[in-house]
Amino acid sequence: MTQYALLTLALSALAGTTLADAAKPVPQYERILQEMPLSDPEKNAIRESIKLGRDISRIAETRNGLPYRRDAHAKATGCVRARFSIRGDIPERYQHSIFSAPGHEYQAWIRFSNGDMEVQKDSKPDARGMAVKVMGVEGDKIAPEFTGPATHDLIMTNTPAFFHRNVMDYVEDMHYLAKLERTRWFISFFPPRLHPKQFYRAIQTVSSKIDSPLQPQYYSMLPYQLGHTEVKFSARPCVGEHSDVNVDRSHTDYLTEAMQSQLDDGTACFDFMLQERKPGANMPLDDATVIWSEEEAPFLPVARIDIPSQTFTSEAQSQFCEDLSMNPWHAVGEWRPLSSLGMARRVVYAAVSEFRHDKNGAEVFQPVNWCLEPDGQCDQSDLVKPVAAVKVPTVCFDPLYQDVNSDDAAPSCRPAWP
Ligand code: HEM
Repeated sequence: MTQYALLTLALSALAGTTLADAAKPVPQYERILQEMPLSDPEKNAIRESIKLGRDISRIAETRNGLPYRRDAHAKATGCVRARFSIRGDIPERYQHSIFSAPGHEYQAWIRFSNGDMEVQKDSKPDARGMAVKVMGVEGDKIAPEFTGPATHDLIMTNTPAFFHRNVMDYVEDMHYLAKLERTRWFISFFPPRLHPKQFYRAIQTVSSKIDSPLQPQYYSMLPYQLGHTEVKFSARPCVGEHSDVNVDRSHTDYLTEAMQSQLDDGTACFDFMLQERKPGANMPLDDATVIWSEEEAPFLPVARIDIPSQTFTSEAQSQFCEDLSMNPWHAVGEWRPLSSLGMARRVVYAAVSEFRHDKNGAEVFQPVNWCLEPDGQCDQSDLVKPVAAVKVPTVCFDPLYQDVNSDDAAPSCRPAWP
């Protein structure tokens, strides 16, 4: 047994459990777990994380009341309809998976959320989530256990790094979180313990206050394989975009109000960007506390997220939002979540989603378009308002780029969407 595994065992024992106790196989995920290129202690940590994720959802219900919710990012600040458009000038090396068709436009849903397991006032500092579900995608699913229509989920929060290096950190901390001891894994006097970098990242993560979900930049934090490149991704409000709203932070749900106020008669837009891992740079794959340097590897825009004017606050839409399931392994083609945390998410998200749907008597489903009806049957003509999209400057990767469908002789930079 390695020194690290021994240390993990000792910490688990201090947390009131042992890996042997907690790491009971969860039958429906065993085959997937067996095939993961991870060590036995890492696989045990994932088995344990499944149990702890469900425990946290159960404990949170005693504080939030029904329904049973996600064990993380429990409060939605809104689910909105969006368009996800691949840029026409996307470099060839990125043309894989959902990025394989330059200029293609997909329908998407975006769930904005607060990070805590408890549903609390928006004024409480917290991590903020942006989970994009791109629909109508083509290609082989990377995780065939997810039946139903294929989607490609891009899940982000508003900090560039996570507060756990890997799945071993994650599972140790979850033991404490399941006892509502939020800081005890990071810092404790008895037993003496300090995880300084993780603690610093955790404070950064949970101290965010924002005026609107449309305002921050969001990050994947974890790396992904895209074709032959390793990337992180991020969504940043488009150049010139500003959330021009008066917020009253004393309102419990002021983030929902701010976003609705902007979308009542306006639009929003994000540049979706990739950051490519550079050989030799300090850009580790299995230490999520490290921010990949933007000087070494800048984020480059490859797609655009356009949120049309709309009303998103109906009861039916809030219910749809609650019942939605995101998973980084809902994806197609040459795309893989990397790192032990990335692999853990495949089964932990699925297990918590199944648990809460089961408790709530709801069906797990994948939407196919902007309709709230799971079969996608509805009149889509007036789901969003036909307000002209905001014109923003575009930046080209390749100044010689020319739209192949254009007769213009001069090379031109133009957005992939009108
Ligand atoms: C480090 C990168 C991570 C990011 C950016 C992230 C972000 C998010 C976001 C935004 C949501 C809400 C999704 C929604 O709107 O439906 C979410 C939910 C969740 N996260 Fe994470 N998370 C990360 C890591 C992890 C890890 C490592 C685990 C566990 C191994 C985890 C477990 C969960 C679970 C179980 C849910 C609820 C899933 C459901 O019930 O549908 N997250 N996460």
